[in-house]
Amino acid sequence: MKTITVVGMGYIGLPTAITLARGGFDVCGFDVNTAVLDSLRAGKLHIVEPGLQEALTETINSGRLTFSDTCPTSDAYIICVPTPFSVENGKRRADLKYVDSAAATVGRAIKPGALVILESTVPPRTTERMAKVLEESSGLTRDQFYTAHCPERIIPGQMLRELRENDRIIGASSPEAAELVVEIYSKVVQGGKLHVTNDVTAEMCKLCENTFRDINIAFANELSMICDPLGVDVFELIELANCHPRVNILTPGAGVGGHCIAVDPWFIHEQFEDTTPLILAARQENDFKPFYVAKKVHELAPDATIAVLGMAYKPNVDDLRESPSITMAHEFEKLGHKVICCEPNASVEAIEGIPNFSLAEAIEKADFSIITLAHDEFKADKQTIAKKPFFDCIGLMR
Ligand SMILES: NC(=O)c1ccc[n+]([C@@H]2O[C@H](COP(=O)([O-])OP(=O)(O)OC[C@H]3O[C@@H](n4cnc5c(N)ncnc54)[C@H](O)[C@@H]3O)[C@@H](O)[C@H]2O)c1
Repeated sequence: MKTITVVGMGYIGLPTAITLARGGFDVCGFDVNTAVLDSLRAGKLHIVEPGLQEALTETINSGRLTFSDTCPTSDAYIICVPTPFSVENGKRRADLKYVDSAAATVGRAIKPGALVILESTVPPRTTERMAKVLEESSGLTRDQFYTAHCPERIIPGQMLRELRENDRIIGASSPEAAELVVEIYSKVVQGGKLHVTNDVTAEMCKLCENTFRDINIAFANELSMICDPLGVDVFELIELANCHPRVNILTPGAGVGGHCIAVDPWFIHEQFEDTTPLILAARQENDFKPFYVAKKVHELAPDATIAVLGMAYKPNVDDLRESPSITMAHEFEKLGHKVICCEPNASVEAIEGIPNFSLAEAIEKADFSIITLAHDEFKADKQTIAKKPFFDCIGLMR
């Protein structure tokens, strides 16, 4: 394994390509988006991630990382393309069109003995589906190439460190495939352990990690809605309950957002509707929370101009995907409120039509604020927030 093509130069693919190049492999970053490739060829990052710009410059200069809009022949391929969900007849289903088209393209480039690793988060049995696409488009038989699923668990903000230090799950379709994957990851993973299993277990491992968190947060959100009429501080309650050595309840919030925790549980539920009522209930509970907050505040202050403080899906990022704050802001609009927001990480005038102001301006213009995220800017200026009535989804003002 000397040459590796990483398919998809996004949040996961690019840091992975850089890490592999630093590990001594000759890496080609392949993408279908020419704007992304133009930027990378010019040595400029198109995503925000600490330390990545310096690492990009270093690996391009070393000659070990190049970019291409055609998929070359190489010893191994790592597929890191999007896996969003689409809604069909009211039901959410994994949209695997990017995985299918990436596999078809890779299939046209592979030679016997090649290894294809799927790193995208996928529903169970997608690695086998990818193998069938590879077989069809390559003309090779199943025993002439190797496949594996190695789910990615790195967190934005710490990607380069976690790529080296996190444990890796290697879901190989054969012992030979496992050996080849271990050969690659053992050159870049320092500190973390490599765990070999089969591909379906690896697919389920990534999904069950995020589903576990979704269910735990749903419980915390449910507690917050019970505590409200009881006059109990849910954050104190959870702190006290977590003093028990075997209890670890996560934190309630405005709901659950992002492209992982709010999406991955659906990839299990879509295949096992009858046996996953708990997974479905957690998704529904977390999706309901922004509507609960909007209704509650509407009853308290029916004519108020509302400022939503935090529109991203988690603290200190600009990522708005599946953000419950955006759902909540639109719900306030439906209830007849004028709504503004403060999202200090997005330097735009409006987010989905909701005017975006600095914290001081938002508080000045609004009658009532909703604190949805513990952004550093909010933590540093609680006095400004306290000037007007607020609803605190996250316990920031305690
Ligand atoms: N971003 C994260 O924090 C994170 C964490 C863990 C797992 N994941 C998973 O990793 C996968 C990739 O996510 P991402 O955030 O890197 O996506 P992204 O949208 O940032 O990047 C995907 C890239 O793939 C390219 N692409 C799409 N189809 C292609 C094709 N057929 N051939 C070549 N390139 C193609 C796109 O142009 C884009 O540049 C997803 O399954 C996601 O769920 C993401």
